Amino acid sequence: MKLTFIGTGYVGLVSGVCFSEIGNQVTCVDKDLAKIERLKKGDVPIYEPGLKELIEKNTSLGNLSFTSDLTSSVQNADIVFICVGTPSLPSGEANLEYVEQVAQDIALAMDGYKIVVTKSTVPVGTNDKIKKIIGQLTPHPFDIVSIPEFLREGSAVKDTLNPDRIIIGTASERAAAALTELHKPLTDEIMVTEVRSAEMIKYASNAFLATKISFINEIANICEKVGADVTHVAKGMGYDNRIGSSFLQAGIGYGGSCFPKDTHALIQIAGNVDYEFKLLKSVVEVNNDQRFNIIAKLNHSLGDLQGKTIGIWGLAFKPNTDDVREAPALDIIKTLLDEGATVKAYDPIATENFRHFFRDEAVVQWSEDALEAAESCDALCLLTDWAEFKQVDLAKLGSVMKQPILIDGRNVYSRDQLADTNFQYYSIGRPQLESLSPFRKSVASD
Ligand code: UGA
Repeated sequence: MKLTFIGTGYVGLVSGVCFSEIGNQVTCVDKDLAKIERLKKGDVPIYEPGLKELIEKNTSLGNLSFTSDLTSSVQNADIVFICVGTPSLPSGEANLEYVEQVAQDIALAMDGYKIVVTKSTVPVGTNDKIKKIIGQLTPHPFDIVSIPEFLREGSAVKDTLNPDRIIIGTASERAAAALTELHKPLTDEIMVTEVRSAEMIKYASNAFLATKISFINEIANICEKVGADVTHVAKGMGYDNRIGSSFLQAGIGYGGSCFPKDTHALIQIAGNVDYEFKLLKSVVEVNNDQRFNIIAKLNHSLGDLQGKTIGIWGLAFKPNTDDVREAPALDIIKTLLDEGATVKAYDPIATENFRHFFRDEAVVQWSEDALEAAESCDALCLLTDWAEFKQVDLAKLGSVMKQPILIDGRNVYSRDQLADTNFQYYSIGRPQLESLSPFRKSVASD
């Protein structure tokens, strides 16, 4: 099929590339000319495992092209996907400016029947607005479909090529048939529903996953006080199929461009119809507090942070991405600087994106090497669970630090790994391992 994706952010670029990979003729459109020029040269603006290779392969096969010419791309396509951003407004509501503008542009470009699919995350009712906008501006027939996106950053290509399910929200049988055909090579789990339910499925899914994370983080906080181990608790809970084991990893909370934005938007969507979403409000509050656990643990082990040097491992909101939007590291480093500490920070790939937020902060030293970031530090805080950190030689790490204090915000290290070190070790929701006794060492193993 001939497909056009408007917007080359995470969703548009990855979806477009993956649909070209399964044999469709794909055009990716963006109004950002510099970005299109980069993409044409195979220079991928985001870090996403496997994406560059697929772009190179499919552009050279002639399945994939990049352009800023929206009109001809719409005219050449059977199906047009809207994949532009819906950032938060100060109220928490999604900003629909870009989606509505693209809907107008599509309408003005149309020269015959088109299926218009919204992949951007939009509040319930938005596709009805899009239908109205397009209908007012074109005499040509069209169908509107909502297909929410569930890919995760860092595994976006894999998620897109192997989705758990595809949700097709439309009132048109013709469009439902075409989109079922398009997605069939990816999965058999295809659900056709009405547009508003499809829009809600996206928000409800992200809100539920965020709820799981805040729930386990509160359980972790209680575990610390009652002497239980949250990693064991989560494992034990996860054996129950009704609960499931995923998204029960306790830590310093969720970040990124999706959960924070979509939870706020759903609270607002509910508020607009006079419904107070109390549970989700608490999920957000718990998440906002959770990152400050790191500071509390530093204060507990070091007291006043004035004049102390604190190492930070991990700036991205999660591993395998250079995305730092809403990353817990942002608030944590700001607080450390406010408390008078000196910060040495390292991330395998996200430093460039992160340091923009601290342009004037001469006090942050950006390291190019994990061990170097820990050198002479009074304490080291691990904020992102990059694989690189899991494999580190802990004895060597301890030897370069001024004080061997390790605050593990992602529960990366096992008791066995720490057993032969002299680290004062704090993690999230696990019993204190500050000084491992030989007895403890022999019975405890993750
Ligand atoms: C999330 C959803 O998982 C995707 O299904 C969805 O398509 C996407 O939002 C979106 O709406 O576009 P993403 O934000 O890329 O994907 O990342 P996740 O892997 O979901 O992680 C989000 C945050 O939760 C990260 O900060 C991660 O560290 C944290 N997390 C995740 C935990 O703290 N514990 C867990 O058990 C899992």
